[in-house]
Amino acid sequence: MQYRPVGSTGARVSVLGIGTMRFKGRENAVEVIRRAVGLGLNYIDIGAGYSYRSLEENAEAWVGEALKGLDRSKLVLSAKAQPRKGEARVDRGLGIHTRDQMWKCIETSLKRVGVSYLDFYQLWDMSAAAHFEAACSGRDSPLTALRQAREQGLVRHIGFTSHGGPDDIIQWLGRVPDFRFVTVYYNFTNRYVEEAITYAHDRGVGVAIMGPLYGGILVGHSRAFDDALVELRRMPVQEIAFRFLYSNPAISTVLSGMNEVAHLVLCQS
Ligand SMILES: NC(=O)c1ccc[n+]([C@@H]2O[C@H](COP(=O)([O-])OP(=O)(O)OC[C@H]3O[C@@H](n4cnc5c(N)ncnc54)[C@H](OP(=O)(O)O)[C@@H]3O)[C@@H](O)[C@H]2O)c1
Repeated sequence: MQYRPVGSTGARVSVLGIGTMRFKGRENAVEVIRRAVGLGLNYIDIGAGYSYRSLEENAEAWVGEALKGLDRSKLVLSAKAQPRKGEARVDRGLGIHTRDQMWKCIETSLKRVGVSYLDFYQLWDMSAAAHFEAACSGRDSPLTALRQAREQGLVRHIGFTSHGGPDDIIQWLGRVPDFRFVTVYYNFTNRYVEEAITYAHDRGVGVAIMGPLYGGILVGHSRAFDDALVELRRMPVQEIAFRFLYSNPAISTVLSGMNEVAHLVLCQS
């Protein structure tokens, strides 16, 4: 397994990271995560709202079960909550727009995952100006809670995930220089955010990629590739998609939405 730095944070993560949004249930999540960690994957992207069925049955809790008995110090864990003005759903990390709500989200994530600190905490889906406003404006903001949690050692670094355009992402990284990590949607068919990836890398901000297979669309074989590029003949599209992302040194880790042990074969290529 190849490991890469997360910008200037000092953390090192496997170039293939574990996404936790696509699990089919507790058993599937525990099996895939344990196998992945056994193969050397050390970065886990956690979301309070992923696969949320109840307080006990959700992807965050499944990660907690999978990690029982493993060496915490070898893992790099990232959790998140969504900044939005509206009805707050702290149990799912949704509608978070005050310091206290974000503080509760951090406490809930720590408890569910069963750890004393998280390496990263991200503002989840900060994709429009209104989301940045809900997250970062005023002294009572979610950003204030993230900074206080960092001061207390509950969170090591802060950042955000975004489906926004490169101009917004670049602007937000400039306005909040202590954002040290960003997760963006990027694959060889969706390259609109490339400029922001380069910008982040040049300033020591780590970059994680979500949607490497376009949510499962870039899977299988492609006649177009077979016909056009002899050297790619017989290579599954998903392998081409991962190789494209791995080849960019600005990318720290590629979060796969793996939900089968068979999906892990890719990490050995
Ligand atoms: N996508 C987003 O909007 C988003 C937002 C925030 C965070 N994230 C994080 O980023 C992670 C990755 O995003 P994503 O789940 O959209 O990623 P993705 O890898 O592009 O899509 C996941 C889907 O691709 C298929 N797949 C995964 N690995 C495969 C393999 N090796 N071979 C063949 N098919 C494979 C599976 O489809 P089948 O189930 O059909 O087999 C899976 O459901 C998420 O799990 C989450 O942690 C994503």
